[in-house]
Amino acid sequence: GMETRSCGVRHMCALTLLLVCVWLGVTSPGAAEKLGCSNLPLSPRQRELCRRRPFLLPSIQDGARLAVAECQSQFRHERWNCSTNQEPHVFGRELTSGTKETAFIYAVMAAGLVHAVTHSCSQGNMTECGCDTRLRGGGSVAEGWHWGGCSDHIQYGTWFSRKFIDNTVKNTSTSRGGYTLSTMNQHNSEAGRQAIDKTMSTDCRCHGISGSCAVKTCWRMMAPFERIGAYLKDRYEHSVQVTERSRRKTRRKDQHRLHVDKHQLIFFNKSPNYCLEDRRRGVAGTRGRRCNRTSTGPDGCNLLCCGRGYNTHVVRHIQRCECKFVWCCYVHCRRCESMNDMHTCK
Ligand SMILES: *[C@@H]1O[C@H](CO)[C@@H](O)[C@H](O)[C@H]1NC(C)=O
Ligand SMILES: *[C@@H]1O[C@H](CO)[C@@H](O)[C@H](O)[C@H]1NC(C)=O
Ligand SMILES: *[C@@H]1O[C@H](CO)[C@@H](O)[C@H](O)[C@H]1NC(C)=O
Ligand SMILES: *[C@@H]1O[C@H](CO)[C@@H](O)[C@H](O)[C@H]1NC(C)=O
Repeated sequence: GMETRSCGVRHMCALTLLLVCVWLGVTSPGAAEKLGCSNLPLSPRQRELCRRRPFLLPSIQDGARLAVAECQSQFRHERWNCSTNQEPHVFGRELTSGTKETAFIYAVMAAGLVHAVTHSCSQGNMTECGCDTRLRGGGSVAEGWHWGGCSDHIQYGTWFSRKFIDNTVKNTSTSRGGYTLSTMNQHNSEAGRQAIDKTMSTDCRCHGISGSCAVKTCWRMMAPFERIGAYLKDRYEHSVQVTERSRRKTRRKDQHRLHVDKHQLIFFNKSPNYCLEDRRRGVAGTRGRRCNRTSTGPDGCNLLCCGRGYNTHVVRHIQRCECKFVWCCYVHCRRCESMNDMHTCK
């Protein structure tokens, strides 16, 4: 069951839509279409957007699922692992805490939406968008290539992602460096959309007698979403804190908002260390997480368990082994058993 929340609580409004997105990302495929626009917890304006373009609902859900899966994949070895079964919302406090985790969530959700909508446009499933026709006819005869095929047209998906996610209520009570929590979220979701643009590439195919490549057809395409996830993870690691002090510093130089590159992720608050369970802050802690005894990375037992130590369990592992091909046509294998150590945080 899903709670339908009206926009009575003002500062919740800005979050509602992302919550819907996140919720769609963890619920079964097709659920969004089944519920329809009127049963999703949208603000009146958002519901109108949904009603006008109900055909985008499957893409919205695809994008959300893509984003949640990518977040969990990028953070699978970290103390904060992007788990979605937290209270009070799916992402717990990380959606509202103004930390770099909040920044990543907004960026990846916005990017997921652009990616899924654009993919659907390129597949020819929509009447409002399609392939990028601006390139058609261009190219270089001298270099023996021309634009052809279907170039991904990200403009429509980008426009829709902005409309859908950046629907925020102005709240100036948490102003830092000229940013508020809602403009911080907007900045980060825009950085997510920019990531799609930044990671696009050109692919070509050769034509000509026996692959002579006398003529090449080229098209622009989005990177696979895993690449965008990795790109955003790197942005997360280099994210910039926006503080009162950084605001005062810029004030002296110019009266405007602290200048931050549009590709950078920004955050207000330092993250907790995510070591110990803290229900009030919605932190699950790392107790019971599986760690790697020999790794020096974040998944290493020392780092992941925050120095608390780890338990070792012996797990029995059964595999098919010594497989032989028997003419014709069987593969005959033995069952091999091995005992492996597994380590979990204390
Ligand atoms: C603005 O945001 C803060 C913290 O996010 C919240 O406590 C406050 O109630 C909000 N104000 C309004 C008017 O929505
Ligand atoms: C993340 O960590 C929690 C415990 O801290 C665990 O319950 C969960 O299965 C982990 N993985 C994901 C993807 O949520
Ligand atoms: C496009 O439509 C086809 C047929 O309805 C469907 O199988 C496919 O999944 C759709 N693709 C996208 C990206 O929505
Ligand atoms: C543990 O970490 C080491 C070193 O990084 C790596 O080679 C190994 O594959 C990891 N083991 C598991 C089970 O992930």
